[in-house]
Amino acid sequence: ARILLLHGPNLNLLGTREPDKYGHATLASIVGDLEAIAQAAGHELHSFQSNAEHALIDRIHAAREDGTAFILINPAAFTHTSIALRDALLAVALPFIELHLSNVHAREPFRQHSYFSDIAVGVICGFGAHSYSLALQAALQRLT
Ligand code: DQA
Repeated sequence: ARILLLHGPNLNLLGTREPDKYGHATLASIVGDLEAIAQAAGHELHSFQSNAEHALIDRIHAAREDGTAFILINPAAFTHTSIALRDALLAVALPFIELHLSNVHAREPFRQHSYFSDIAVGVICGFGAHSYSLALQAALQRLT
């Protein structure tokens, strides 16, 4: 099946961005690892990062037409702000997992509300780059 991995704003800077909170792995290395895991399991993974809310919304709309079966999304700061991204996921009605590198519940109060968690299949946070492979593992289990 086709899996879409979405990354919100500032995640293009992973590796150098607040490494104490987000680790040293770059987005390219995380995506490369996940592509290999998905492929080995007989699936294909497509990845898209944007700092722009509208670009992420457009990509979610496109997922309805391109055969995407499952979405993994780290909405980054849009987690806490974006009703529009929430509505896009509801509109395409594709199952998705919300994931975060950091444990958002152990951080500032404004990070403890998500516009996605109540409509997600599940939420994974706090395991750094490993949050991505855990989320993929959960997705693969649901797809087989
Ligand atoms: C994040 C957590 C968000 O609160 C933050 O705005 C991010 C990254 C994470 O992966 O830990 O940009 O989604």
